[in-house]
Amino acid sequence: PYTTLFRSKLKQTAEAICEQYREAFEQQEENTSDGLDYTLPGEAMPSGSFHPITLVRSRILSIFSRIGFNVSDGPEVEDDWHNFSALNFLPEHPARDMQDTFFINLDPDKEHYNGQLALRTHTSSVQIRVLDNEKPPVRTICPGRVYRNEAISARAHCFFHQVEGLYIDEGVSFADLKQTLLYFAQEMFGSDAKIRLRPSYFPFTEPSAEMDVSCQICKGKGCNVCKYTGWLEIMGCGMVDPNVLKNCGISPEEYNGFAFGMGIERIAMLLYQIGDIRMFYENDVRFLEQFK
Ligand code: DAH
Repeated sequence: PYTTLFRSKLKQTAEAICEQYREAFEQQEENTSDGLDYTLPGEAMPSGSFHPITLVRSRILSIFSRIGFNVSDGPEVEDDWHNFSALNFLPEHPARDMQDTFFINLDPDKEHYNGQLALRTHTSSVQIRVLDNEKPPVRTICPGRVYRNEAISARAHCFFHQVEGLYIDEGVSFADLKQTLLYFAQEMFGSDAKIRLRPSYFPFTEPSAEMDVSCQICKGKGCNVCKYTGWLEIMGCGMVDPNVLKNCGISPEEYNGFAFGMGIERIAMLLYQIGDIRMFYENDVRFLEQFK
């Protein structure tokens, strides 16, 4: 009986306090004159959108992550060793001229043949960084910004983005490379996409090839995007040159593999039919808003 009495007293007290607050609150409500209903839901903030380069990069990474590639990163300011020499560009090799380099003037570092620092001209430099630190098997994809001393136009810019791929293991064949790239092309451009490989030259791969994908706009019939060839060039690739493995302390007798590299802007331009590379860097919201 005592606890029952105590409970009812407690209830009365609580109710009284509650009532007191309710009255005070109602009073307050009458006194405020701004006429706003604070219980209404807020107005939604307009949502932003990802940059098309970010969208395409994420798609590339996700396609390769599904077949076991992890993501690696390297610095944008590189030394000659990682950007050129370790990739089998000889000191006087004409292939160095293929890349218009932005050099950074610093005191010569005696470690390598000229010790110069530069803004990396390709993400292939990350291959060397990975192989210096990891033991095979290696399956990695390296996205990043690269720089070239080129005149800016609708088709070229002094910086752009690339994705590098590297696969090193025992007994890797050219057929593995071809199948991996076909898988990529069909995931990226559609299950009816075809690929073709044309012989090419890169100092860090032997044999080397350039890969074309069938034009998805005209389905190979010929249009002004593919310049009436039915094919679009999208990347360079090849079997990693034994010298590159040796330069990273890996025995080419034991291991081999393939590598490939592609430009993100180029793929974004094809996917979204963007005619001018400069649009990616102007940050005009009318352009960016279209990628919601
Ligand atoms: N690094 C080359 C470029 O910037 C692209 C490339 C070609 C990367 C062939 C590769 C490769 O890994 O095997 O033009």
